[in-house]
Amino acid sequence: MPDTNGPRFALTSGAPASARADVLVLFAHESPGQSVAVTAVDRALGGELLRAAGEEGFRGKPDQTFVLHTHRRLAAHRVVLVGTGPRERADAETYRQAAGRGVKAAQRARARSVALAVPGSPAETLAPVAEGAALGAYRFDRYRTDGRDERVELEAVRLLLPEGAERSRDLGQALERALQISAAANFARTLVNEPAGNLTPEKLAEEASAAAKGHGLEVRVSGPKELQKLRMGMFFAVGQGSQNAPRLIELVYRPKKPAAAKARPVALVGKAITFDSGGLSLKSVENMADMKTDMAGSAAVLGAMQVAAELAPPFPVHGFLGAAENMPSGTAYRPGDVLVSRLGKTVEVTNTDAEGRLVLGDVLAYAVEQRPAAVVDLATLTGACVVALGSWVGGLFSNDDALANELLEASARAGEAFWRLPLVDLQKETLRSEVADMKNSGERWGGAITAAVFLREFVGDTPWAHLDIAGPSQAPRERGYLGKGATGIGVRTLAEFLERRARSGR
Ligand code: BES
Ligand code: MN
Ligand code: ZN
Repeated sequence: MPDTNGPRFALTSGAPASARADVLVLFAHESPGQSVAVTAVDRALGGELLRAAGEEGFRGKPDQTFVLHTHRRLAAHRVVLVGTGPRERADAETYRQAAGRGVKAAQRARARSVALAVPGSPAETLAPVAEGAALGAYRFDRYRTDGRDERVELEAVRLLLPEGAERSRDLGQALERALQISAAANFARTLVNEPAGNLTPEKLAEEASAAAKGHGLEVRVSGPKELQKLRMGMFFAVGQGSQNAPRLIELVYRPKKPAAAKARPVALVGKAITFDSGGLSLKSVENMADMKTDMAGSAAVLGAMQVAAELAPPFPVHGFLGAAENMPSGTAYRPGDVLVSRLGKTVEVTNTDAEGRLVLGDVLAYAVEQRPAAVVDLATLTGACVVALGSWVGGLFSNDDALANELLEASARAGEAFWRLPLVDLQKETLRSEVADMKNSGERWGGAITAAVFLREFVGDTPWAHLDIAGPSQAPRERGYLGKGATGIGVRTLAEFLERRARSGR
């Protein structure tokens, strides 16, 4: 179902002033002294580009975009200047954001083709520019019938290296990797954007199976009967109120080389509540509105599994998606119910809306049985994490400092923001129960930590990290390469994480 057929990408070199495209995107620095590309195009336009931009107050700031119609004085019909801020402070994320804004401006100008002049040193900038362009071109408009006939699709993106620059193998590979990662992130975005009425656990399993087949991954899907057989009492309970039965979806990337196939795997676990009504502890109208996105963690895992297949690291990667719909009904689990988890620990349900940790607890316990080198879970787990860190930053929890730092470095490289939050033992007291080993929800304060402390009960000694992506799973408004809606957060961090591990031979 996710149509990830974005624009075609091509890598060439040549003078930007003679680039044939509907829109030519140029990166403009804030500091005095423009790039060769900007200077050359300005000269070809008789100095009109920088004069007009200056008159409109364009200073090359990182939030500025300027569009000029060339009136056929250039091969390109329009030039878009995207600000990067001071040249010396521009990093990969600066170029990703700027490229994304450039492509969005081009789409608004109804461009079918865009050329972007790759700035600075292409060895560093080509990949982020390609990612920003591919992510920026993403739109979710399959349900919009208004103006469908007049809609213009961006078909071609050309990445333009400086005149005479060599189109090396390394650059070609960097581009290919960037496009694979962006396609995986866009795939995840579509799954998250898809309405919950269409994307049930069963449908998600079908999507995962199709994606697995396309990428040569093993896949296994289990239904409610198997969940009971696996003694996943918490996971099963969350799904029992819905007509749309739960699914445990397992994907495996297995290296071809026998030695690598025997290496300890990396496990990725994703929360896949296809819709979170809150269950009998029903959510309010406002809080329920966006809950089709409660499977964003699993979308990220599914995207990352595709990248794993393409990257082919020298260790297996296991993906686990815990898919259920949290609904109120005559068969729903109730506040007061006591659930028996796969680990054997019992849990008193005090709030059916704290369902994510119940699903993840059982799936994490299952994942660590395979003795992975590390397990990383991603989940839109708590509103408290959104209160703590806002809409653009995810929370990171870990029982292992090295793993936490590895993920923080990977996320910084990938341009996805995470902030480490503490797993304080004190928080466990709030989960104390009179009738079972623990409750599933505690006091209001520090709710993101409480949820993480709950999950920790199920991972034992395995190095584990938990990414609470409740905030950044969705962009509240357009920004850089993101439009309003699903962001695909996690895919790029996990891709970078796997790539680093593959390189370091872990
Ligand atoms: N899916 C929600 C968390 C969420 C909130 C995601 C806002 C995205 C945006 C989760 O299942 C939930 O309902 N958490 C509760 C936990 C509480 C009942 C202990 C919450 O955060 O209110
Ligand atoms: Mn909930
Ligand atoms: Zn939820």
